[in-house]
Amino acid sequence: MAVTRRGVEHGRARVLRFALAAGMLALLLDVATGIALAQGDAKRGQYLAKAGGCMACHTENKKDAKPFAGGRALKTPFGTFYGPNITPHPEAGLGSWSEADFMRAMHMGVRPDGAHYFPAFPYSSFTKITDSDLRDLWAFLRTLPPSGRANQAHDVRPPYNLRILVAGWKRLFFTPGPYISDPARPAAVNRGAYLVQALGHCGECHTPRNSLGGPNLDRFLGGAKKTADGEGGAPNLTPTRLKKLSDGELKDLLQTGLTADGDVVSEAMGEVIRNTTSQLTLEDLAAMMAYLRSLAPLPDEAK
Ligand code: HEC
Ligand code: HEC
Repeated sequence: MAVTRRGVEHGRARVLRFALAAGMLALLLDVATGIALAQGDAKRGQYLAKAGGCMACHTENKKDAKPFAGGRALKTPFGTFYGPNITPHPEAGLGSWSEADFMRAMHMGVRPDGAHYFPAFPYSSFTKITDSDLRDLWAFLRTLPPSGRANQAHDVRPPYNLRILVAGWKRLFFTPGPYISDPARPAAVNRGAYLVQALGHCGECHTPRNSLGGPNLDRFLGGAKKTADGEGGAPNLTPTRLKKLSDGELKDLLQTGLTADGDVVSEAMGEVIRNTTSQLTLEDLAAMMAYLRSLAPLPDEAK
């Protein structure tokens, strides 16, 4: 009997030791995955950078330009902005930045020294990106080869070149905060809305702006007579116009830049297709289309 009891107690102690060891291991794993999460996933970040079209505005428009090293001229009705170097170079790029600096720039449009960014940087859309996606984007940017390419000053006419005035612009037109899913809509429509509104910043061109460059949100994605560069115009993306395209035609257009009649879309959209929509997974592309199809139809803007 005594032997058996000792055996049972021994067994209990073993179970306890095992439970303790398993608990420790679980704790260690928690810590390890915690660190991994805190660091972000660079590979996911690379995909998100495509979904966000970061390269276009942050890479000079010439052959052999270093990706993300800045220098792209962005024409607007207020003058020309130059996308800065966002590689991890210590002086020329974001080498000295913390992840928190990056989150604040993307979510609040504020520089590490507290100055406001010009809205040519589409933080009005990027404010909707989730914290976890921003951490992945940051992890990706940290993996880029550092480039010493120096930033050039924006060439914008006064008073629009004054960062202090952007504070007023933001009070009028900037609503910080994440994209809020609508539980009444299918998951794919919410995913598509997130891709269009937050990362894809499609409204920056497809939503009309007033003379101060503020978006007219009553006509969100309703088409603009002028795009952000003050030229061309971007068509209505609500069903008023897109219902004329079948799912197959719309998908082909967003993957190849060829319209159903065999025309090539203009360069402004061509670049978005090359860098973003043709790079999306089929699931994400379908989600984007499902969201566009779900929009309330808006009449085309008066000519
Ligand atoms: C439509 C053009 C455009 C797109 C798209 C764009 N940016 Fe920018 N970005 C800019 C401009 C212009 C500035 C500089 C704004 C200023 O000087 O006030 C900027 C500034 C920044 C800065 C601050 C850099 C610094 O030196 O202070 C970061 C970080 C940044 N962008 C990251 C991104 C990321 C990440 C993406 C993709 C998710 C992205 N940008 C997409 C135009 C763009
Ligand atoms: C830099 C400005 C710009 C951005 C950003 C942009 N577009 Fe466009 N888009 C245009 C222009 C300009 C056209 C017209 C092209 C043409 O007619 O050749 C266009 C055309 C289109 C068309 C074809 C519509 C039709 O009926 O012909 C679709 C669909 C479209 N865009 C979807 C998107 C989506 C989705 C996004 C976001 C991922 C987006 N666009 C972002 C400028 C832009």
